[in-house]
Amino acid sequence: MTQNSQDMTLVVTGATGRTGSRVAEAARAAGLTVRPATRAQGFDWGDRSTWADALRGAAAAYLVYPTDVGSPEAARAVGLLAHEAMGLGVRRLVLLSSRGEELARPTEEALRESGADWTVVRAAWFAQNFSEGPLVEGLRERGELVFPGGEVREPFVDVRDIADVVVAVLAASDRYIGQALTVSGPRLLTFGEAVAEIATATGRPMTYRPVSPRQYGDHLAGFGVPPEEVEFLVDLFETLLDGRNAYLSDGVQQVLGREPRDFAEYAREAAGAGAWKV
Ligand SMILES: NC(=O)c1ccc[n+]([C@@H]2O[C@H](COP(=O)([O-])OP(=O)(O)OC[C@H]3O[C@@H](n4cnc5c(N)ncnc54)[C@H](OP(=O)(O)O)[C@@H]3O)[C@@H](O)[C@H]2O)c1
Repeated sequence: MTQNSQDMTLVVTGATGRTGSRVAEAARAAGLTVRPATRAQGFDWGDRSTWADALRGAAAAYLVYPTDVGSPEAARAVGLLAHEAMGLGVRRLVLLSSRGEELARPTEEALRESGADWTVVRAAWFAQNFSEGPLVEGLRERGELVFPGGEVREPFVDVRDIADVVVAVLAASDRYIGQALTVSGPRLLTFGEAVAEIATATGRPMTYRPVSPRQYGDHLAGFGVPPEEVEFLVDLFETLLDGRNAYLSDGVQQVLGREPRDFAEYAREAAGAGAWKV
């Protein structure tokens, strides 16, 4: 960034979501002007005619592709949006991507090919998946997590650390341009251990019931998730949850010079905020 971070308008896509809401908060705290871009503001990833108004006059954008950065439409949409942003002088683009997800690489490549001043932040599984989004209901209503995570270990990352990394990267002039950073939490936990930490934090018994990706797909279909999305998620979980991601990454330490937040701290705070209260 050649501009002072004080003069900088940051477009935040996904601003009502798990990471975007924290990116918006951290960016405002750092003195940036935040322009949220979700469907409520008229920005729709599925409608190119809505993109220019969201981008015009901004210096940078945080890109979150719903529902998954590795979905079949993501690479095309991110590439087209990055070109449009460049045409409007919005050169600095930070994409949220996924650690260990091969399907996300074409989306990252489309960003790179746009010629933008890009940074990719590849994140581990979010800790907040347990308290915001589809997993929360079972834990809250029945004290049970049904999920195809087997006994695999994952270093769940707190989305506030992702947000802090994104904002620090934007504030760091050109230091992280052209880099893919990989962020995780500080500790490997199985899904069962994560649920046990939530049980401790809430004082409620909670259980984890591992199922196969296919069984989980049937479960999602029962909740009305469209068949093509179910198939995509079944394939994704079969690969992402096969043990390939059972290692720590040091992007948080590298960018922020501190340890990532621990899962126990997340669980305590989310429990205190009533995330799993019936
Ligand atoms: N969950 C994980 O553990 C994990 C790990 C690594 C990477 N990721 C990646 O994280 C991304 C999701 O990020 P997140 O969890 O922060 O978001 P999220 O909580 O799933 O929220 C989705 C956001 O996208 C917006 N949105 C949905 N459809 C839209 C559309 N058609 N046009 C414009 N905006 C739309 C929503 O806003 P409105 O509905 O208000 O429009 C909302 O702000 C995915 O790309 C996923 O691959 C996830």
